[in-house]
Amino acid sequence: MKKILLGAVGTLGLGAAAAATLMQIGVLDFGADTPHSPVVHRLIDWAREQSIARRAADIAVPADLSDTTRIRRGAGNYDAMCAQCHLASGVEDSEIRKGLYPPPPNLAKPNADSSLADARRFWIVKHGVKASGMPAWSKGGMEDDAIWDLTAFLKVLPSLSPEEYRQGVEASDGHSHAGMDGHVSEQKTAQAHDHDREHRHDVKPHAHKHDKHAH
Ligand code: HEC
Repeated sequence: MKKILLGAVGTLGLGAAAAATLMQIGVLDFGADTPHSPVVHRLIDWAREQSIARRAADIAVPADLSDTTRIRRGAGNYDAMCAQCHLASGVEDSEIRKGLYPPPPNLAKPNADSSLADARRFWIVKHGVKASGMPAWSKGGMEDDAIWDLTAFLKVLPSLSPEEYRQGVEASDGHSHAGMDGHVSEQKTAQAHDHDREHRHDVKPHAHKHDKHAH
């Protein structure tokens, strides 16, 4: 028994040393344009979902996620802060999304919807996902209530036509959640909004214009 145990510990030690050597000589490719191997990808997916499920299990989902005021507020904040990565009704891809790895899921496409899914989304928006490009919005000052507004909006987003999406954003208060300084000024709201609107509606022309840029 003792020999088997020593053998197992030795094998683990050798494995760890081999892995450390591979890392030391720079074998791992950290480039965002080289995907993980399918095995590593599945392993990371699994570990992430296990971790989020455990942490989101005790989150109490508000009963009023179908409240139209929540959805209206969520629309403006989504358009200003999320759509460039997670797309919107009728928008197929974006410049930033193409280069991110893992690619941000298209949240305008139908997805699982349940109170578990709501708690999971709330947790992800609040805490972000390490080394993925998904920010922890709470670190920038976003309060829980604004995150629930976004969660409420995400529930209806896949059912919106491009016109309904645009009308929802126009009827919203724009980029209205309290930020790091506790508020968003009128001017900043208008700028964030206009910038994003131009950017997203111009996905193709904008990409062409980039040919002339020096980067
Ligand atoms: C810079 C790009 C970027 C921005 C901006 C961004 N996200 Fe993400 N988001 C990601 C990436 C990348 C993932 C995937 C993380 C992973 O799979 O490890 C993700 C994952 C998510 C998920 C989980 C989706 C799923 O079903 O697996 C939700 C929900 C989400 N983001 C919501 C938001 C919201 C709401 C905002 C705006 C407040 C936002 N994100 C802004 C990049 C972004």
